[in-house]
Amino acid sequence: MNDGIYREEWLEEVKVAQSRAYTPYSKFNVGALLVTQDDEYIYGANIENAAYPATICAERSALVSAYSNNIKKFKAIVIITDADEPASPCGTCRQVMKELCDDDMPVYMTNKAGEVIKRTVDELLPLGFSGKDMDL
Ligand code: THU
Repeated sequence: MNDGIYREEWLEEVKVAQSRAYTPYSKFNVGALLVTQDDEYIYGANIENAAYPATICAERSALVSAYSNNIKKFKAIVIITDADEPASPCGTCRQVMKELCDDDMPVYMTNKAGEVIKRTVDELLPLGFSGKDMDL
């Protein structure tokens, strides 16, 4: 991926995030790397729960961690799983990205081989609901 934004070294960092997954139920480990405007890394992993709906996806883990540490400006998010094809974020995570990230923030979906698919937040959730829709 050579778009002037993506950095090859992010692959190793998102694998670090993935290594922190807690997945006793699905065994499906997801990592999310949020890159801040200052090139700081925020790591997120999926944290499962015996009450399955209480599971938190990797993307939301990273975003909640960032906001909890008062970090709110992001350059990109990178996502990795062990699937052959780069996996794309679930609907709930897309909605949370819509809330907390810029519409044009790149989302890089990758795999262990380092293949990358890029979409923006807006491309992943076209016509998504946001606070703007509540300004009646
Ligand atoms: N998962 C994520 O972490 N991110 C997504 O966008 C999709 C799904 C996690 C949740 C659960 O722990 C496992 O993947 C299987 O659904």
